[in-house]
Amino acid sequence: MTQDELKDAVAAAAIAEIEPRLERDTILGIGTGSTANLFIDRLARLRDDFKGAVASSEASAERLRRHGIEVFELNSVGTVPFYIDGADEVNAHLHMIKGGGAALTREKIVAACAERFICIADASKRVERLGAFPLPVEVIPMARSYVARELVKLGADPVYREGVVTDNGNQIIDCFEFMIDDPVAMEARLNAIVGVVTNGLFAARGADVLLLGTEQGVERLT
Ligand code: 5RP
Repeated sequence: MTQDELKDAVAAAAIAEIEPRLERDTILGIGTGSTANLFIDRLARLRDDFKGAVASSEASAERLRRHGIEVFELNSVGTVPFYIDGADEVNAHLHMIKGGGAALTREKIVAACAERFICIADASKRVERLGAFPLPVEVIPMARSYVARELVKLGADPVYREGVVTDNGNQIIDCFEFMIDDPVAMEARLNAIVGVVTNGLFAARGADVLLLGTEQGVERLT
C-alpha cells in the first residue's frame, strides 16, 4: 500500500470510531494536514448526522465549509467530544510531534478542549524516540533570534522556516538534531522560553487513541 492509502485507511477507521457516537448537536474538533484532509473528505458523507466542527487551521475550516460542514468558533463551543488529527511522529506513550503544517498552536488549543484525541497516522510516523522529525516551535516574530539562541543552549539546531506565517501571524523555527528523552519535561521547558507561543510536542496532552495504518491493517493503540 502507498502512504496515501495507509492515510486513507486510518481516516476510514476514525470515521468508524466516531460514527456511532455522533448526535445532532455534536461538534467535532478537526485537525490539519493530508491525513486530516482525507478524514474531512470522508466526514462529508455524515454531514447531516452532526452539528458541525471546530477547525485547527484556516485551511481545514475552508475544506470543511466546501463540504457543507458548518465551522464554529471554539469560544462559542467549549468542549468537543473528539479531536481527530494526524501527527509527524508518535511514540508508544502516544506523545507526538506535530506542526509540520505550521498549525501546532491551534491544534494544541483544540486538543486541550477535547474529551478524546484520536490520532490518525500511517506507520512511518511511529517512532521509539521523538525528534528525528524537526520539532516546530511557533514564535512571536520579534523574539525569533532570541528564541533560536535559547534553543541552541538546549542542544537544538534551530532553522527558521522562511516564508511561513502561521494563522496567528507568527513564525516557525524547526529544531533539528534534537532527540527528546522526556517529552513532557521538554514541552514545558520550551514553552517557558519568552517569545515562544507553543512548541510541537504534544505530550502533556497526548493522544487517547492512535489509529496506525500498517500493511497488516489499522492498529488501534490506547
Ligand atoms: C500540521 C500537523 C499535521 O498533523 C502533521 O504535520 C501530519 O501531517 P500529515 O497528515 O500531512 O502527514 O501537525 O501542523
